[in-house]
Amino acid sequence: MRQTHAPSNPIESTVIAEASHPAVWAKVVLPPSVRQLPLGANFDPDRYLRASALLQLKGYDYLLTLCGPLGADERVLDIGCGPGTFGRHLAEMNPGSVVTGSDISAEMLALAREISPREQYSNLHFAEADLRNLGNHFWDGEFDLVLSNYAFHWMLSDEDKARAFTGIGSILSAKGKAFLYFSAGGAFKELFEAGYSVIARPSWAHYFDGGTFKHPPLPTFKEIDSALGNSPLKATHRELRTVWRPFSREDLAEWFAVCIRPFMNRLSSLPDADQKRFAHEVVTEYQLKTEAITGYPRDTSGALYIRDLAIVLGLEKA
Ligand SMILES: C[S@@+](CC[C@H](N)C(=O)[O-])C[C@H]1O[C@@H](n2cnc3c(N)ncnc32)[C@H](O)[C@@H]1O
Repeated sequence: MRQTHAPSNPIESTVIAEASHPAVWAKVVLPPSVRQLPLGANFDPDRYLRASALLQLKGYDYLLTLCGPLGADERVLDIGCGPGTFGRHLAEMNPGSVVTGSDISAEMLALAREISPREQYSNLHFAEADLRNLGNHFWDGEFDLVLSNYAFHWMLSDEDKARAFTGIGSILSAKGKAFLYFSAGGAFKELFEAGYSVIARPSWAHYFDGGTFKHPPLPTFKEIDSALGNSPLKATHRELRTVWRPFSREDLAEWFAVCIRPFMNRLSSLPDADQKRFAHEVVTEYQLKTEAITGYPRDTSGALYIRDLAIVLGLEKA
């Protein structure tokens, strides 16, 4: 279905998160095997779980506000679920619902199953599925609610976005809704710029095409609207949400090392200590750069704020 006119500007919202924000989503009980794992040299689900629980980089609360209370027996899918923390919360809060978490990574799903075992969470399932082919993995109309937190920005090309929207359209029931929260173009701008300064240094340039490497562009509203315009979906909510999130220096370096894969993948052949050193150099550079910017949030506890810019979409069948 095609849009006949250009969508209006998205809502713009800004939140400054508090350093003392209660760690509601950090209440992940790690099994001993996970707690004792050494920090991996490359992308590591266990390390991701720890970093994401610690750092609160999540739209969970906001997604729940947008979708409202679940119906008695809703069928829910969390796409790009990672270690499944969000799905587990939904399953716990809504015992009458059946919740599925899907991800492309078998390793992430293995961890999700380990920390949320079927014996304890009988209404929670996990399934391997590529966001770009959801229609191949699930039945038409199988879900009443599709949610996603920080995964959709990996739909980097126009084609991937279009395929993902087509899939969501096919697996949603007639009255189904979807809410997606994901990084937008411009997110972490100053942090990436700090990264670009560091990769230009002689000790790192070799790994980053002589220092010319750039992080792939994150999605813009223009691209999203264009992909939606050719999809079976219409937007019911369009928001560009800025959240200034506080991090300790140590946590920010760990989060960068674990989650900013386009940079860190370049260093995956290096020992963990060198990768950490790189992430710390980026954080030091970030601190220097942002201290020079008037109006950049800071607080007295020594937290560094990062600008987390997200697109929040509410979708229904057109
Ligand atoms: C930043 S993590 C977010 C995980 C989880 N939603 C959370 O809030 O913690 C992004 C997740 O998207 C998954 N992912 C990336 N590309 C994907 C794709 N094409 N299909 C399905 N999942 C994908 C990754 O494997 C990863 O688990």
